[in-house]
Amino acid sequence: MKEAPGNLFDVTGRIYAITGAAGALCGTMAVELAARSARVALLDIDLEAAERRAQLIRDAGGEALTLRCNVLDEGEIEAAADEIERRWGVPHVLINGAGGNHPSGSTTEVAASAALLGTGPESQTDGRTTFFDLPVEGFERVFDLNFLGTVLPSRILGRRMAVRGSGVILNMSSMSAITPLTKVGAYSAAKGAVANITKWLAVHLAPAGIRVNALAPGFFMTEQLRFLHIDRTTGEPTARAKAVMSHTPMARYGEPEELVGAVIWLTTDASSFVTGVLLPIDGGFSAYTI
Ligand SMILES: NC(=O)c1ccc[n+]([C@@H]2O[C@H](COP(=O)([O-])OP(=O)(O)OC[C@H]3O[C@@H](n4cnc5c(N)ncnc54)[C@H](O)[C@@H]3O)[C@@H](O)[C@H]2O)c1
Repeated sequence: MKEAPGNLFDVTGRIYAITGAAGALCGTMAVELAARSARVALLDIDLEAAERRAQLIRDAGGEALTLRCNVLDEGEIEAAADEIERRWGVPHVLINGAGGNHPSGSTTEVAASAALLGTGPESQTDGRTTFFDLPVEGFERVFDLNFLGTVLPSRILGRRMAVRGSGVILNMSSMSAITPLTKVGAYSAAKGAVANITKWLAVHLAPAGIRVNALAPGFFMTEQLRFLHIDRTTGEPTARAKAVMSHTPMARYGEPEELVGAVIWLTTDASSFVTGVLLPIDGGFSAYTI
């Protein structure tokens, strides 16, 4: 009798190292992967929150390991990699999920105009900000977390994968990498850099047996988004939220669980000839003009 074909999407026993795994999106990935019998190392600067996720996994009979790891601290990443290797071996998959925006990299205004600008270096006195008001530290902070925070774990865990000759890296870019979003200039540019280095690394690491891809999520109703999309006093959608919905053909926010199918596809043999892609998961937002 012919043997039944194997499951291309099987994650059983696969070792995942996930940074930012205490967060909304990557925490959901961790739980969903473990529910499918993957071994999941949750790396986060917030160890308590990572432990809460890990407990959910263990309560459901899954395998989870939590490690405090600042993705900007090479010593902590090395220590986390050592511990995963000691417990389970070199990870099959690294998901670079730690990231996010910061107000110091965002303007309050969509556009700058002469009328908005004063004559001194500080253009605004009424709290309205444009590109010219953003502190350099705002760009540094957002670039460090999103870009360097992807590069450093990829170097440290990627080297170990390269020595073995196989591995998968999945980066968290954003739909704002494809077309920048108004106001969040530093974040959009940093996610653009993540998309760019994803392709560069895909080329560079292909001979080492490592595939490198990125997700470009659209709008998911997480804490990062909530304060921009829901008016704090009225609880109603903000003008920005309405604009987003009118540009989202599926006319709704994504649910964190809706990233899981793509994560499984891009981190298993189901995508064995796929490297260097930026995959939008955005209800059609990036496909829409007018
Ligand atoms: N939420 C969205 O709609 C959306 C859309 C597109 C892309 N993304 C990206 O997806 C990723 C996850 O987003 P999220 O909404 O789950 O964010 P989140 O804020 O819920 O989670 C981010 C996690 O990263 C951790 N973290 C922050 N700095 C860290 C550091 N220096 N070292 C280690 N961990 C650190 C935080 O403690 C947190 O647990 C981010 O890269 C984000 O930019 C999110």
